[in-house]
Amino acid sequence: MSDGGRVLDDMGALAAADPHGARDVLAAFPAQCRAAVTIETRALAPMKRPRVVVVAGMGGSAAAGDLVAACAAERVEVPVIVHRGYGLPSVAWDDALVVAVSYSGNSAEVLSAVETARTRRLPLVIVTAGGALAAFAKQASVPYALVPEGIMPRMALGYLFFPLARVLRALDLDVVSGEEIEEALGIVDALALELAPERPVADNEAKRLALAIGARWPAVYGGPVTGPVAYRWKTDFEENAKTFGLAGALPEMNHNTIEAWRTTLARDLHLVLLRDDREEPEIGRRFAVLQDLVGATAGGVSEVRTRGRSVLARLLSLTYLGQWASVYLAVLRGVDPWVVPTLDEMKRRLHDG
Ligand code: PA5
Repeated sequence: MSDGGRVLDDMGALAAADPHGARDVLAAFPAQCRAAVTIETRALAPMKRPRVVVVAGMGGSAAAGDLVAACAAERVEVPVIVHRGYGLPSVAWDDALVVAVSYSGNSAEVLSAVETARTRRLPLVIVTAGGALAAFAKQASVPYALVPEGIMPRMALGYLFFPLARVLRALDLDVVSGEEIEEALGIVDALALELAPERPVADNEAKRLALAIGARWPAVYGGPVTGPVAYRWKTDFEENAKTFGLAGALPEMNHNTIEAWRTTLARDLHLVLLRDDREEPEIGRRFAVLQDLVGATAGGVSEVRTRGRSVLARLLSLTYLGQWASVYLAVLRGVDPWVVPTLDEMKRRLHDG
């Protein structure tokens, strides 16, 4: 076995490389999801079905919005739009619902979206673990779901997704059924065992992926449904393993990025393809031709697959695999997957003016 493989199977080395216990938080993800399903939104009064739902969030918090939007796209006629930035888009006007999601409760962009929602007199719901958002919700009597604090926002996907989905269900926007939630929970239970640190490299897909990527840059591509998860993998690699990542989706990348894949630059990249058993045959064919065209010039190629039937199970299973792979990659690269000092410094400087 390679040195890297030995490190990933050595519990002492893992503990030293991950001093804040990101691996423990990931191992507890199924329990997080189960707890999150029961979190209620306080003071949520009956309201009119919205014309559009705008989820305002950044980074790991916005990812919960992406997951809700993907589920909603299959199930309800009301669009769910994820807004990453200051203020609100012009679609957030009459009959729009704004859901502000920020794990810390302190992201400046989300606070600005809340301010705009108040100015426009739009119905507003908040999902947070505390900070300025929780204080504001209490003081202004805005409905809010308070989730447990103490972990990194990108590792709190369960805490952020399920209360958000529950808010929409209360408005008659059934983006995910009880049966679909049960299916997804069963799949993350199984994955928690399969991807755990105790499971050796030979039998652990996330460890094998991290080893396959090695010193290269991960470039992650999904299809029409798994595309948002490709972006999530990229951000997990960036924040946890502190490496550049690329992300995109088929078919669009076949019309642009594919050109760069047959240059010598591609040697430094590791292509990761997010396949979905339910993808359309034409998308499957595109993945096959893509591999054929760029397999030889890419530094390496890995293919992973969704699990389950519902969009929720398929996307959550893939996201969870990516989270584990990024934490194992951090360990291989000798960086702490928990801390994000540059991101924090950016926030601090803006806050201090
Ligand atoms: O996961 C992270 O640490 C980041 O991507 C954060 O989610 C991002 O900076 C936004 O912060 P918050 O989720 O607390 O609003």
